[in-house]
Amino acid sequence: MNSHYPFALQPLPYGWSGLQPCLSADVVCNHYEHHHRHYVNRLNQLLQPYPTYQDWTLEQLLTDCQTLPEEIRPAVLVHAGGVYNHNLYWCSMAPCRYTSPTGALSKAIACQYGSFQLFQQQFKASAMALTGSGWTWLAADCDGSLSIQNTANQQVPDLNVLTPLLVVDLWEHAYYLQYRSNRERYLDNWWYLTNWGFADSQYRQSMTE
Ligand SMILES: [Fe+2]
Repeated sequence: MNSHYPFALQPLPYGWSGLQPCLSADVVCNHYEHHHRHYVNRLNQLLQPYPTYQDWTLEQLLTDCQTLPEEIRPAVLVHAGGVYNHNLYWCSMAPCRYTSPTGALSKAIACQYGSFQLFQQQFKASAMALTGSGWTWLAADCDGSLSIQNTANQQVPDLNVLTPLLVVDLWEHAYYLQYRSNRERYLDNWWYLTNWGFADSQYRQSMTE
């Protein structure tokens, strides 16, 4: 799969019904086929007339955005963010089963937040505090220090210093079809989907970069 223009829609790591009952096949299909695909297509349209930037990765587009021509900069940021964030979101989940962190990440969470349950409380509180559309992230710096943070719209954390481990999509299109306006229930059920194996591999990678 291309890591630069023309960007491809990252394959979903499970089928439409793979996240049921926590996320219905309708929600997953609509989200992936409509929203995620839109960001990929629009990003490719924006970069098509600009060969200079066609070998840039998503990370480069997001971190070196000041170099982009002013006329496409805001739209490229939004759509590159939309692709990057959704790529991470689908990887942050796995077919429904309640699991807890593993490996080095498990120790880091216990050390930094006191326990997995206290970490869950802080993560959920952060997600519930976000107004409007956005994302809640668990990220790590190169020293292995963890942070929970929100970003608005399609913004990303500072990728120069942080490696995202997990992200939950808090745009209404991620849950409204199934949960209506009940973001809290979506978040409570999200723990049954969390892909801790992925988060732990991201965590180990963060300390080798
Ligand atoms: Fe989304």
